[in-house]
Amino acid sequence: MKILVVDDEKNIRIGIADAFSIEGFDVVQAEDGQEALDILAVEDIDIVLSDLKMPRMSGDRLLKRVLQDYPLIPVIILTGFGSVEVAVESMQRGAYDFATKPINLERLSLIVKRALQFRKTIRENQQLVNELNQHKKDRIMIGKSAAMQHLMISIQQIALTRASVLVTGESGVGKEEVVNALHAHSDRKNKPLVKVHCAALNESLLESELFGHEKGAFTGAIQRKRGRFELADGGIIFLDEIGEISQSTQVKILRVLQEKSFERVGGEETLVVDVRIVSATNRDLYKEVQEGRFREDLFYRLNVVHVHVPPLRERKEDTSLFIAHFLSVAAKENSKQVEGITRKARTALEEYQWPGNIRELRNCIESAVVLCQGNIIEIEDLPASVRNNEKESSIELRIGSTLAEAEREMIKMTLMTYDGNKSKTAEILGIGRKTLHNKIISHHLE
Ligand SMILES: Nc1ncnc2c1ncn2[C@@H]1O[C@H](COP(=O)(O)OP(=O)(O)OP(=O)(O)O)[C@@H](O)[C@H]1O
Ligand SMILES: [Mg+2]
Repeated sequence: MKILVVDDEKNIRIGIADAFSIEGFDVVQAEDGQEALDILAVEDIDIVLSDLKMPRMSGDRLLKRVLQDYPLIPVIILTGFGSVEVAVESMQRGAYDFATKPINLERLSLIVKRALQFRKTIRENQQLVNELNQHKKDRIMIGKSAAMQHLMISIQQIALTRASVLVTGESGVGKEEVVNALHAHSDRKNKPLVKVHCAALNESLLESELFGHEKGAFTGAIQRKRGRFELADGGIIFLDEIGEISQSTQVKILRVLQEKSFERVGGEETLVVDVRIVSATNRDLYKEVQEGRFREDLFYRLNVVHVHVPPLRERKEDTSLFIAHFLSVAAKENSKQVEGITRKARTALEEYQWPGNIRELRNCIESAVVLCQGNIIEIEDLPASVRNNEKESSIELRIGSTLAEAEREMIKMTLMTYDGNKSKTAEILGIGRKTLHNKIISHHLE
């Protein structure tokens, strides 16, 4: 990691440079904004710490140039005690943060680490967005897991036939997305895709919805109405939640499959249609057949081709792409500037079991986007169910740290995690209470 320190006062530059060198950073120095720009042009700088008042080019103008030419490099303003307002103004203009002089090195180090973390998050997010965009170009659906690759290939093959397709999978896994993709890649893509939610209507309403009715067929039937099968002629009808339909409706649908014909409710005329049937269920339809609730002959007719969409927890590799996708959709819909998601929050999302599958993930990200304060989604923005699943917290150690520093950090973080409970901390670290006590003193951790 390389820090560029810009200040016309040599002592300040050297003080900061020394402190950060000890922490393992590379430090480059510049006397003013112009020299800083010259360095930025040739060196790979990760963060800029800059004074405001300098000869030749001020910190203000430097900030403007960095924001414009190197938008991913955070700038931290160093400012005299008397000019905090100016520093705050710089932050409004895009500086990451500021530190007042005389510089408190410990505080500055915290700011720098936070800024680097921020930059890392934004970079990771950009990589994810690039991956997603590439992905959308090459594929018919989102997903890079072996299971989804496989599924996409079969959808493309199945799409070109007219065989009936049964799509199964848990609630929220994307069965309807599969049907949309199937339609979009079939030779019926310019013909209608008509969707019927079979569970939403009672038997007689569903039949009149599917097959239509004649004027006067029942009270309230004041006009002839065309059914969904007629509307889908030449295209595809999607019977969602097919497991919920009654025995009598099952018989009528079976007839459409066998003879391609039906009558409107209350009608005599036999209508013939060319409709491809795609259905979906989150029930185990085979079990329904064995237990006598679903007609076996209809089951086999609907299930000529079977597409199973696996639950999200069985294809965790897809989660990061969905996160990027829903983040950008939700940010746009809510007019919020969201630049990314922290590693911690992303890991929690990747580890969670997602009983509600992709729908639950989408809702979770939407609410996080709405709730998040800054422009990065933090672990705190996620629902408790997802957060509690979090893996044990970890500490970050830089290569270049000494063993003593590592030990200090381990003890400090374990103490903090267990709210200062020393017995627990000693137990976890595998040392005696007395040893822990001595180490707390020698590392100045009281
Ligand atoms: N591959 C995908 N790309 C984009 N969004 C998806 C994808 N898969 C699922 N979704 C989104 O997840 C949500 C749930 O998907 P969908 O409605 O297809 O699930 P389902 O399996 O039909 O669920 P249910 O059984 O509850 O009807 C929808 O908002 C959908 O847009
Ligand atoms: Mg559905």
